[in-house]
Amino acid sequence: MKIVTILGARPQFIKASALSNLIKRQKKIKEVIIHTGQHYDYQMSNIFFKELKVPKPNYNLNIKSKLHGEMTGTMISRIEKVLLKEKPNYTIVYGDTNSTLAGALAAQKLQIPIIHIEAGLRSYNKNMPEELNRVLTDHCSSILFVPSKIAEQNLKHEGIKKNIFNVGDVMYDLFTSVFSKLKKNKNVYEILVTIHRAENTNFKIKMSNIIKNLNELSNKYSILFPLHPRTKNLLKKYKILKLLDSRIKVVKPISYINTMYYLKYAKFLVTDSGGMQKEAFFSKTQALTVRDETEWKETIDLGWNRLVKPIENQIFLKTEKFLNFYGKKRNVYGNGNAAQLILNTIRRLK
Ligand code: UD1
Repeated sequence: MKIVTILGARPQFIKASALSNLIKRQKKIKEVIIHTGQHYDYQMSNIFFKELKVPKPNYNLNIKSKLHGEMTGTMISRIEKVLLKEKPNYTIVYGDTNSTLAGALAAQKLQIPIIHIEAGLRSYNKNMPEELNRVLTDHCSSILFVPSKIAEQNLKHEGIKKNIFNVGDVMYDLFTSVFSKLKKNKNVYEILVTIHRAENTNFKIKMSNIIKNLNELSNKYSILFPLHPRTKNLLKKYKILKLLDSRIKVVKPISYINTMYYLKYAKFLVTDSGGMQKEAFFSKTQALTVRDETEWKETIDLGWNRLVKPIENQIFLKTEKFLNFYGKKRNVYGNGNAAQLILNTIRRLK
């Protein structure tokens, strides 16, 4: 069996590491990897291939920074050419980025069945590019691997009834293999911050408020802020990057293992990332999510995550309130063997 896997953005390199490394070790399935080039800086791409030993992509399409329509369209036409050449039995796509949707549309037009990993998530906010990407991808996929019961129910409510497999979260596989080995061997920070979502970064007012909140936090806590290139570019454009308090340690995006290290030893995470909300939950670190809604509702229900608006000193107040609060522990995202379960299912496919 031949599979073409389409990757393009940072979270997909992380998600692919567990499954691609399992596929590599057996003979019956050949995997061909396409990297669309959506993320291209060393810190956003190569570092993950190296650190997590993700097999090197067979194709790099080098499609960098474009408007959404142009980016997705260019990806579709370039991926189509590779699919026509490789003639795979299946295509694998992960998550909800423009690379996911482009891969799914290219494959669907050629009637190559799509396997969607991390299917079924919903924010029900259609203004998010990620929501559009994941809904459309789910509706053209043949096999849907979901990370949770809620994700499974979301699909069923939309009329997708067949070939849904709740295998747990693939990010949990990698997390469990790395986390216990992280010993305190360098600086730690009380608060880790990541912000990159368009719904925040595209608005100067929201970003100014986030900076004000972080500055307030820095009066009391040590803060590490690895800055996503999108966020950095926009803060510069709005001329507010220099307003960040100098006590906040601002660095380039950091590797997966370093991110898990700082998360493990932080008291709090402030984020708008989907993956980081979950990873905070896995590591039993409290999270504040600077968004109006989340796809990872279990993290809220179990008391490890809260939605917060970046107004006045909301982030500061919520941090103070939940500082020594512990949520409930439950394995709502599986047992850390999602990749193996996915591989077992794929092996049974015709
Ligand atoms: C994308 C995904 C998002 C995911 C995130 C993880 C979409 C619609 N969004 O958002 O779901 O959570 O990746 O990081 O696919 N840039 C660089 N260097 C890079 C990558 C990006 O400078 O290596 C800059 C470019 O100016 C680019 C901007 O960041 O225009 C945004 O990148 P893009 O890939 O469009 O979206 P993300 O915000 O990273």
